[in-house]
Amino acid sequence: MSPFLLTRTLPEDATDAALRADVLHGLTGTPKTLPPKWFYDAHGSELFEKITELPEYYPTRAEREILLARAGEIALASGARTLVELGSGSSEKTRHLLDALPGLHTYVPVDVSESALTQAGQALAAERPGLDVHALIADFTGSLTLPDTPGPRLVAFLGGTIGNLLPAERAAFLASVRALLSPGDALLLGTDLVKDESVLVAAYDDAAGVTAAFNKNVLSVVNRELEADFDPDAFDHVALWDTEQEWIEMRLRSRAAQTVKIPALDLAVHFARGEELRTEVSAKFREDGVRAELASAGFALTHWWTDAEGRFALSLSVAGQDR
Ligand SMILES: C[S@@+](CC[C@H](N)C(=O)[O-])C[C@H]1O[C@@H](n2cnc3c(N)ncnc32)[C@H](O)[C@@H]1O
Repeated sequence: MSPFLLTRTLPEDATDAALRADVLHGLTGTPKTLPPKWFYDAHGSELFEKITELPEYYPTRAEREILLARAGEIALASGARTLVELGSGSSEKTRHLLDALPGLHTYVPVDVSESALTQAGQALAAERPGLDVHALIADFTGSLTLPDTPGPRLVAFLGGTIGNLLPAERAAFLASVRALLSPGDALLLGTDLVKDESVLVAAYDDAAGVTAAFNKNVLSVVNRELEADFDPDAFDHVALWDTEQEWIEMRLRSRAAQTVKIPALDLAVHFARGEELRTEVSAKFREDGVRAELASAGFALTHWWTDAEGRFALSLSVAGQDR
C-alpha cells in the first residue's frame, strides 16, 4: 500500500465562515444565488456520482471516451511526475490517466468534499503501490499551496467543472492555476461544448429526478450547518439554457410565498411565489473561446480532442514563460 496523506488546507471554522458569508450574501442579494460548491457534502457527492451514470448525462461518458483514447498522448506530451487534480470527486475517470503515466510519483487530488477525497484517495493508495497520494481538502478558487513534489506537473480539471465559474471567476482561476506551475508544466482541461438545447436541458433535468435531488441538497446543507428551516419540497428544480451566455442555469423555484429562518445568521429570507434561487451556472464552450481564455492566463493550447459525437472536449495546454 502506498502512502495516503489527507491535508486540510483551511481550518474547519474557515469553511463554516465561508458558508455563512456565501449564504448571507447570496440570499440577501437580487436575484438570490448560492455557489455550487455547497452541493457537495457526503450525500451531495453520492448524488453527483449517480448523475454521472444517468442516460441523459452524457459529459462523463464522453470525457471518459476521450481519456481512454488519448491518455497515452497526454502522458507523452506532459511527462508528468506529479498529477494534481482539481475538483477530483471520486477520481473514477482519472484512473485512465494514472494507468497511462508510468513515471508518476505523486497524485494530488484536491476537493472540498472530504468524504469523496478519503474514499477515492484510500482506494487509489491501496491499489497502486509506488504512487504517493496526497489529498488536499481545499477550495480551488482560493489560494492553493501544493505539496513539494517532483515535476513536471500536470494539473487536470475534468468534468466540465470550469463551467461552474462565471467568466471573471474563470479568468482569475486560470491565472491562479498558471501561477502554481513552472514553464513547461501542463493543464488538462475538460470543457462541455455548446450543443442542441434539448440535449443540454435533459442532462440537467433527468427523468428520474436525481439532479433535482442534488439541486435541493444545498438546502439540506444550509439547514444542517446553519439551523435553517428550508423545506426542500417547497421548491421546484429548474434547469434552463441561456442562449446569450451559452450556459445552463440550475435554479430552485419557490412553490409559494414563504419565509425561511436561518437562526445561525439571525436572518429571515422571504421568497415570493415563483421566485428563483440560482444554484449553479454550467457554461458550455467553443474551441476558440477556450483557446483565448487559456492564452489570457498564460497557457498555450497544444491539443484539442473531442469525443466521436463532438459533445465534449479535452484540451492540453502548456504553461508559458513566467511573466
Ligand atoms: C462536477 S463535479 C466533477 C467531479 C469529477 N472531477 C468528475 O469529472 O466527475 C465537481 C467536483 O468539484 C468539487 N468542487 C466544487 N467546487 C469546488 C471548489 N470550489 N473547490 C474544490 N472542489 C470543488 C466537488 O466536490 C466535486 O467533486
